[in-house]
Amino acid sequence: MDDSLRSKRKNEHIQLALDTYSPVSTDFDKVQLIHQSIPSINKNQIDLSVKFPHFTFKYPIYINAMTGGSERAATINKELAQIAKACNIPMAVGSTHSALKDPNAESSFTVVRDENPEGLIFSNVGADIEYAKAKKSIELLNADALQIHVNAPQELIMPEGDTEFENWLTNIQEIQDNIDIPVIIKEVGFGMSAETIQKVKDIGIQYVDVSGRGGTNFADIENQRRPLKDMAFLNQWGQSTVQSLLEAQLLNADIHILASGGVKNPLDAIKSLVLGAEAVGLSGYVLKYLDAYGVEDTIEHMKQFIEQMHVIANLLNASNVSDLKSVSYVLSPELQTYVEQRAKS
Ligand code: FNR
Repeated sequence: MDDSLRSKRKNEHIQLALDTYSPVSTDFDKVQLIHQSIPSINKNQIDLSVKFPHFTFKYPIYINAMTGGSERAATINKELAQIAKACNIPMAVGSTHSALKDPNAESSFTVVRDENPEGLIFSNVGADIEYAKAKKSIELLNADALQIHVNAPQELIMPEGDTEFENWLTNIQEIQDNIDIPVIIKEVGFGMSAETIQKVKDIGIQYVDVSGRGGTNFADIENQRRPLKDMAFLNQWGQSTVQSLLEAQLLNADIHILASGGVKNPLDAIKSLVLGAEAVGLSGYVLKYLDAYGVEDTIEHMKQFIEQMHVIANLLNASNVSDLKSVSYVLSPELQTYVEQRAKS
């Protein structure tokens, strides 16, 4: 594809994501956490840091993959990196394919490392990429982890989508076998099934980001980019983030689960941790706030977000992320039926 077309697409994604993002009611609202009246810990005793085998997150949230590959994307990446640094949270860049094809696009990604030399930064490629390119993508940013996005619905709805999927699993395996930083298999808002998680675990993957339905909606975004806008019937395709976390629970596999997709406040983030995620990614939420209020206010807002996660942990008498896993909760009848039917299948 022509580079100017790619850069145009990046800008359309940003604008459409901003225009369509409205996670008003999601499955998070169908999960009720059970309040405990007599906490036995003080707020200042709460430590929500998360230790993974390769690195530690000071707080259990991160800015998830969004952009790169256009001038507007470069500005956004620079600002996101400033937010990530000020809040001491990890950040993923958007797909680096444009930089792998065109050196002129590199600076829209490397700006993230320039702004935050010591930060945890994740690079991002699609599953159509082979090992050599994945390695370049990591080197570009001196990345601490590599996200490989799996976005079949997006490619199939996107007018100019790449619909060759047969090498995806072999590519993922080749990358996993040859790089020494964590590979995170990541959805883009369609969620993951127990079968998908099992499939990647079977080839040695240790991290998945279930990125479920409920927030940024790439079925809707790509449909808007179709001349006839004729595929809106797929707008609710996939599993929500809550359903995906319930899928992961059914599997009970020894794999690190990250959650993203439609997290719209600190309570949704805590619910994700209660349901089994170890950390929570935010894309649309941060992009929207940044677009409306600018970098400084977004930094303050994200600091408040983190602070309010500590408040909720205190309410639940949980002093760390591991305690949150034993918090009692009740699912709506609809979600409970989902679990029962999926447990049988
Ligand atoms: C994304 N997302 C994304 N994911 C990815 O792995 N590679 C990418 O290049 C992009 N590009 C992208 C652009 C924009 C503008 C947005 C908002 C998002 C998907 C993102 O990482 C996440 O999986 C979904 O957006 C769901 O999370 P939210 O937005 O509901 O918090």
